[in-house]
Amino acid sequence: MQLIHLAETESTSTRAKGPGFSPWTVILSDRQTAGRGQHGREWQSPVGGLYASIVLDPDVVSPVFTLLAGVAVLEACQDATGAEGIGLKWVNDLVFDGRKLGGLLAEVVHRKRAILGIGLNLAPVNLPEAAWLEEAAASPIDRLALLEAIVARLQFGIERWRAHGQQAVVDAWISHSVTIGREIRVETGGETLLGRAVGLDADGRLVLQHPGKADRLIASGTLRLADGRYA
Ligand code: BTN
Repeated sequence: MQLIHLAETESTSTRAKGPGFSPWTVILSDRQTAGRGQHGREWQSPVGGLYASIVLDPDVVSPVFTLLAGVAVLEACQDATGAEGIGLKWVNDLVFDGRKLGGLLAEVVHRKRAILGIGLNLAPVNLPEAAWLEEAAASPIDRLALLEAIVARLQFGIERWRAHGQQAVVDAWISHSVTIGREIRVETGGETLLGRAVGLDADGRLVLQHPGKADRLIASGTLRLADGRYA
């Protein structure tokens, strides 16, 4: 892993889009002044979290890449801190105790480079519905050891995907899921849908079952439990 460690930057993912970074370069910043989240949202990035972007070859990007990355980050948290109880909420959130622990932002730049942005709360954060890794960890958190574990798990996940295909990624993701089997409300393409999340297809799309209607496949969206809780 080639690490570039900054005290502050606008956004590690924006920085990683600049010229000259080869695959597996990792940009880590202690804080971000303009962190970016999914769906154009802001990602608050005070000191005390892990904000990193990994530069990758775009040939690793498939319909299940975000799922693959979520599994890698979750398993790295387990490896590096002995954490228990972390789950994955479709499509790219890490959760603990029904609250958001972290998220991922995968971007492809001019088909030449892929950038995986990882934001994880490590220490307490004063945000509604937020969790932090210290709550789940069994041992003190060493941020660099955690980052090395993320890179190792990502390499392993990419190799497994190359060897066994998308279904292996989907199966690994489902084994950590807090979404499958739940009654949910999903906002997608201007619609709000209610139903039970019953599985994922081989491209990682969520299968939503409504009584008396055909199943719906959801490719992207924002979801909550049907009772309004985050996860
Ligand atoms: C989400 O909305 O859940 C995704 C959050 C991704 C945040 C990370 S922090 C490091 C990288 N740089 C950014 O500006 N965003 C990602």
